[in-house]
Amino acid sequence: MEAQTTPKLITIDRHINEEQDLHPEATGEFTFLLHDFTFAIRLIEREIRRAGLTDILGLTENTNIHGEAVRKLDQFAFEVIYRAMDHNGNLCVMACEESQGLMKIPEKYPKGKYVLVFDPLDGSSNIDVNITLGTIFGFYKRLDPDLRTDGSLEDVLQPGRKLVAAGYVLFGSSTVFVYSTGHGVNLFTYDPTVGEFLLTKRNIKIPEWNNQYSVNEGYYHKWDEKFQKYIDFIKTPSTDKKRPYSLRYVGTAVADVHRVLIYGGIFMYPGDKSNPNGKLRLMYEANPLSFVIEQAGGLATDGKMNILDIVPTSVHQRTPLFIGSKRNVEELMEFLS
Ligand code: AHG
Ligand code: MN
Ligand code: MN
Repeated sequence: MEAQTTPKLITIDRHINEEQDLHPEATGEFTFLLHDFTFAIRLIEREIRRAGLTDILGLTENTNIHGEAVRKLDQFAFEVIYRAMDHNGNLCVMACEESQGLMKIPEKYPKGKYVLVFDPLDGSSNIDVNITLGTIFGFYKRLDPDLRTDGSLEDVLQPGRKLVAAGYVLFGSSTVFVYSTGHGVNLFTYDPTVGEFLLTKRNIKIPEWNNQYSVNEGYYHKWDEKFQKYIDFIKTPSTDKKRPYSLRYVGTAVADVHRVLIYGGIFMYPGDKSNPNGKLRLMYEANPLSFVIEQAGGLATDGKMNILDIVPTSVHQRTPLFIGSKRNVEELMEFLS
């Protein structure tokens, strides 16, 4: 019998290698980096899937630098990523939500040319109620080519436009790993029985428009009038039946943005009277998510400029975020301008 041609089975490691082959100048370091990162993700995935069985739900006694209670799973995810990434010789510094300052590579280990920024666990308030969580990450190249020194604050504070790779992991009904190296967006689904991420969607494109919006509308009375008017508009029925839009809000940015990537529409976390820059952090939430959405053909703005063009001034700075399908974001901008 003649052999049948079937769709290729591609693991994430194989895919990373193949992408690397497209860059003749590549040294393979980046392949190792992502390999170690996905190993950390596998450990986090295992812990999330056993949450409740292993006494890991609930709070630690600590608060993080944003004054938020640190949950045990936040702490676990943070430590696992750090410990998987600190000794491989490819990073020069890390920064993340749970750590006040920069996270240095210990003296005893070699340093490399990449920088890692991450949100170890996104959607912490959903941990104890079995709702989708995420991990967000971005890699930059260091500015100073001298690999003997630690990475610096300048190496971390690069605009999102300079990311060499970014993405997120969504621990949902299944676990998916979505990332881009600037050549489109690919999605891998985790098969827990073999411990592998398999390529399931190649070169994802976000729909041009959809009548779905995502925002915490409980803050309506704190928003400025222009934004209130936009929300009123998308909720007002129209004769062409395009409005009202449907509201979807998980409260885990990764989950809300992932839904927007696949179905289209818009996710928003605006500033308000008490928090003019909103809640989300530029370096390890808004930038990586915006990188992915833009690579898929969507848009992300803080209401004034493209998120990826913002020149960061501090590791934990916040930014308003409006992200999603091109036509949805453009429609919003007409109200904001
Ligand atoms: P984190 O769990 O990393 O602190 O992030 C939570 C964020 C984000 O995931 C989500 O979109 C937002 O908080 C929800 O905030 P509200 O409860 O104010 O809507
Ligand atoms: Mn987060
Ligand atoms: Mn977090």
